[in-house]
Amino acid sequence: MGKEPILCRSALFETAMNELTVRPSGALRGSIFVSGSKNAALPILIAALLADTPSVIGNLPAIRDVQLTLRILQNMGCVIEPLDAATYRIDPRHANAPFAPDLLTGKLRASTYLLGAYLGRFGRGCIGHIGGCDFGGRPIDQHIKALSAMGATVIEEEDGYHISASSLQGASVKFDVVSVGATVNAILAAVRAKGETCLENAAAEPHIDDLIVYLNRCGADIRRIAPNTVVVRGVERLCGCRHTVIPDMIEAGTYLIAGAATRGAVRVRGISPTHLLPLTQKLEEMGADVDCEEDSVSVFVPTRLYGAYLETAPHPGFPTDLQPQMVALMSTALGYSRVCETIWQHRFRYTEELIRMGAKITVKDHIAEVRGTCLSGATLTVPDLRAGAALLIAACAAEGESRLQGIEFIERGYENFVRKLRSIGADIRPA
Ligand code: EPU
Repeated sequence: MGKEPILCRSALFETAMNELTVRPSGALRGSIFVSGSKNAALPILIAALLADTPSVIGNLPAIRDVQLTLRILQNMGCVIEPLDAATYRIDPRHANAPFAPDLLTGKLRASTYLLGAYLGRFGRGCIGHIGGCDFGGRPIDQHIKALSAMGATVIEEEDGYHISASSLQGASVKFDVVSVGATVNAILAAVRAKGETCLENAAAEPHIDDLIVYLNRCGADIRRIAPNTVVVRGVERLCGCRHTVIPDMIEAGTYLIAGAATRGAVRVRGISPTHLLPLTQKLEEMGADVDCEEDSVSVFVPTRLYGAYLETAPHPGFPTDLQPQMVALMSTALGYSRVCETIWQHRFRYTEELIRMGAKITVKDHIAEVRGTCLSGATLTVPDLRAGAALLIAACAAEGESRLQGIEFIERGYENFVRKLRSIGADIRPA
């Protein structure tokens, strides 16, 4: 295919403008089918570069981050063929340019995964500056620690990162912090390295395991031998395969929280309930009724919702990517809530917007204290992806009309967010 956008804008974006008007919707009620996981799709698409033959990746969410990743792959010579709206064939055989410019990497956090993939495929490469949501600093020292242990040199220059390795050797790496990105990068570099790599204190998110499933289907030898230990035995070659991306637990959790915040009844389908346990337990603790079936979860608020204590943590702890949505919910619950953010210390900036809606929140360092109240509509600016989802939830639950600016952040990570919320009764229109 040519170098036109891989997905057309109309398929991706529901609003021609970047502003939305949200009116009080009352209780949101209905059922939503969950799309593929953003944070699984991105590393898997980049991992397809490591195979010698094409892969077919299904259940890809139609979101901007996926489009950008496909564009990066196409830019380096991969042939990308859409088979249907959610399925792409990635042919990496002609990839020959291990280079990704700022223009692309600057919009996407997952572009860090190119470091490991370039090393695994080409033994060298260069990527521009890394983008993604701004939580006040997103270091990559743990990525560099793992890649360096395998024999790579990583140099940061004005135009981005330059990496090279004459040969990659398996190594033992103990991460100082649990990092999704560093774990992905280490796996991508180790999969075709010589010998065995042992990653301790590795991330255990379901999307890491989905990447491992994909790579093993391609012929890799990767095992999780303990909850936070991954062993990778390097193999000579990988052959592409067919893979279906797991459902997005953060998307599912966001709709459940929207149901609870509007005191409605929402069911998410096509999801693994175990991935949502930290959330469903917290919602129950707050007074919601939760019903889990084999591949669906429902939430219903029978009477009142009460405040709770919450601390984010790497999987299987409470996901930081649902923290803003929970603070929006807690702003409407009875009594006192306390939220401790242990992953991204600066992930409370959006609370300033909730406070403009009348929320009673005080933030000190990485702790937010929330006292429940009635929210009122306001003009709000979306600062990042999950905060955008939280503000939309708050606007649905508030009294009076809200106007949201900066909707493009939400389009980075939620497929048809507005359409799905409308389907369960939200009153959201382009401003
Ligand atoms: N960290 C370091 N050094 C490193 C890497 C990370 O100190 O080299 C620290 C970070 O500062 C942070 C913690 O480790 O305090 C965890 O960071 P991690 O590397 O796990 O985050 P990430 O890989 O950059 C992914 C998701 C984020 C999600 C985090 C945590 C993707 C593309 N992004 O980011 O998702 O918040 O893991 O679960 O998978 C989102 O989807 O909205 C989003 C921000």
